[in-house]
Amino acid sequence: MPGLVDTHIHASQYSYAGTALDLPLLQWLNTYTFPVESQFKDLDFARKVYKQVVKRTLRNGTTTACYFATIHTDASLLLGEIANAFGQRSLVGKVCMDRNNSVKQYKETLQESQEETSRYVNYPLVKPVVTPRFAPSCTGALLGQLGAIAKNNNLHIQSHISENPEEVMLVKELFPETESYSDVYYKYNLLTDKTIMAHGCYLSDKELTLFRETGASLSHCPNSNISLCSGILNVRNVLKHNVKLGLGTDVAGGYSASLLDAMRRAQDSSKVLAMQDPDLEPLTFEEAFRLATLGGSQALSLDDQTGNFEVGKDFDALRVNLLVPGGPIDLIQHEKPKVIVTEIKNNNNNKIINCRDDRNIVEVFVAGRRVVPFTDSTPE
Ligand code: GUN
Ligand code: FE
Repeated sequence: MPGLVDTHIHASQYSYAGTALDLPLLQWLNTYTFPVESQFKDLDFARKVYKQVVKRTLRNGTTTACYFATIHTDASLLLGEIANAFGQRSLVGKVCMDRNNSVKQYKETLQESQEETSRYVNYPLVKPVVTPRFAPSCTGALLGQLGAIAKNNNLHIQSHISENPEEVMLVKELFPETESYSDVYYKYNLLTDKTIMAHGCYLSDKELTLFRETGASLSHCPNSNISLCSGILNVRNVLKHNVKLGLGTDVAGGYSASLLDAMRRAQDSSKVLAMQDPDLEPLTFEEAFRLATLGGSQALSLDDQTGNFEVGKDFDALRVNLLVPGGPIDLIQHEKPKVIVTEIKNNNNNKIINCRDDRNIVEVFVAGRRVVPFTDSTPE
């Protein structure tokens, strides 16, 4: 099957994935996230965590990942180099934030953020993403400078938007002159056809229309949305507005670094909404599969390279064994052990999504190179 695309994951939060899910977003950031991210000033610590997250996501079949790192330029570059060394297709963002942070050892000034971003995006080996953390963490001045850097260098942009009601209210207070949360990013040239925004649970139809008009895309992070009690994205409405959409694990707001999990949660979330509104069609597994592959590659503007097996694209692929010995499912007579999945179209194939895990992903290829299982030449 085609390789999986994680459109939103915080590599720097991997160490505490599966814990610390007892607070809503804004308190969660100050209590758990910022203190952990501040530790990535230490390159040895960064190397240890970043190797683990790249190896774990590759084993889970993530052939393309769009990462948030931390505010530290050198550690962010290191993440890109580690992904390159392991052969993962990656986009990496050095996080920018110049206000509203209660953790004093995890701060940058407007000038530092701008200068370090310029240094970061000019480093040749890593595919950089301009990464304002989210509007509450950034002054208007910083957002404006980041918009200019992205425009002048034709770069990808990533951030968060409308994840949680308290956050949406805070943005209204911080940017009283703007019409909506989306309008804040739009005003600073941060909504472009190379922008991907995580969450978007509370976007209005008007804001979704702005996304479509600018070509900006959304990353749906269902595990995180539920784990932090943030909200549930109405995927059907996003698709109706023709907004490009991919899936994200959003580790560590989401506790799983697996796109198989994200596909399941996306379907579960959509079924919850459908139970409340009988007019709403729940997401099908074909749609969930598409979001995790081609949808993600479109959302990241990488669909000329990856996302499916169209002739001319790179060979990003997983070899899946449904019945691997010791795997999560017992041998069932009527299953065929070998199928090539170019398109998921029957319930048997749906089992890949619903009943399997990384044990069933026996080989992973990125651009034709076999990157899993790891070999003797794989970096330590
Ligand atoms: N909004 C701003 N920063 C973050 C983050 O690290 N995780 C999530 N889920 N939302 C955010
Ligand atoms: Fe996030």
